[in-house]
Amino acid sequence: MPPIIRIENLTKKFGNFTAVDHLNLEVEEGEILGLLGPNGAGKTTTILMLATVIRPTEGTAYVGGYDVRKNPDKVRELLGVAFQEPKLLWVSTPWDVVNWHAKVCGLSTQERKQRVREVLEALDMWDYRHRSVHALSGGMRKRVEIAKVLIQRPKIAIVDEPTAQIDVVGKHKIWRMLRELCDSGTTIILATNELYEADVLSDRVGIMHRGRLLVCDTPQKLKDSIVGGDVVEIQFEVEPSPKIIESLDQFKEVVKVIRTKASTLRLYLNKVEEVVPKIMSTLMMEGAVVSSIRMSEPSLDDVFAHYTGLTLEEAQKGGR
Ligand SMILES: Nc1ncnc2c1ncn2[C@@H]1O[C@H](COP(=O)(O)OP(=O)(O)O)[C@@H](O)[C@H]1O
Ligand SMILES: [Mg+2]
Repeated sequence: MPPIIRIENLTKKFGNFTAVDHLNLEVEEGEILGLLGPNGAGKTTTILMLATVIRPTEGTAYVGGYDVRKNPDKVRELLGVAFQEPKLLWVSTPWDVVNWHAKVCGLSTQERKQRVREVLEALDMWDYRHRSVHALSGGMRKRVEIAKVLIQRPKIAIVDEPTAQIDVVGKHKIWRMLRELCDSGTTIILATNELYEADVLSDRVGIMHRGRLLVCDTPQKLKDSIVGGDVVEIQFEVEPSPKIIESLDQFKEVVKVIRTKASTLRLYLNKVEEVVPKIMSTLMMEGAVVSSIRMSEPSLDDVFAHYTGLTLEEAQKGGR
């Protein structure tokens, strides 16, 4: 089956600044494709080009076979988009917005009544349905945006940070509903800067940084692909000296040592079970006092760090 979306050298420049840099990516029909990256990575700009809201500077994308440059109307027919910054429409309450959207999507009166209620209830918004949209919290507005997509059940749904500003219980509900939407036949593109969201929801994750796609694969394969896939985090009583870091780096199994906090080191290594005892005796010889040690399999953050040299949090702080 050909990919439902094919992105070819997609590029967007704002003046001299390249927000999206020759992006190549294919989205398979029926999958949830996560785009994971820190703020400023270029996720929203990519999505806005796919949604034909802004025009690419270079390259293009084919959505359901239609070129976003040449057939934007056809592309829009296939899409439902939950924008990162929901726009307030002239209509004034969640019920109005969602009901109007259902009408535009061609639902019959009967169907509309039922589905609007179902979705608003599922999103815990039923009691707020007659409030003014302007008076709603950011999280509530986000839910209105998600509700539109859930009502529409489009061929392709694009959701940009769907659970930002939403509480943990709400997040889990929305994840489940997006998974159900996918199971009912909708292909989903999910942009997020949340590791956990990308990990639990996506069939495949594309990691973006500075306008570029670094890698794209299933979360499991991304984690497995890291050389030195085992991770050991050592917390010291006091900040470890450069000499200590050097002594850890000397083990042939240790691939990389990075400092995640002032007194915490994260080691990427092979054969964790054999190396950790040796590491402990070295640290004792050096007189370093360890307050805790934690071993784990890599997370998507480790994958991100592997490609960028930064944790997602550090990249987030850097803006880009
Ligand atoms: N309209 C615009 N004009 C100028 N710069 C922009 C515009 N839109 C986005 N950018 C810049 O492009 C970069 C990527 O932004 P964005 O696509 O929103 O990233 P993300 O969604 O991954 O956080 C950011 O540095 C942002 O400031
Ligand atoms: Mg964004």
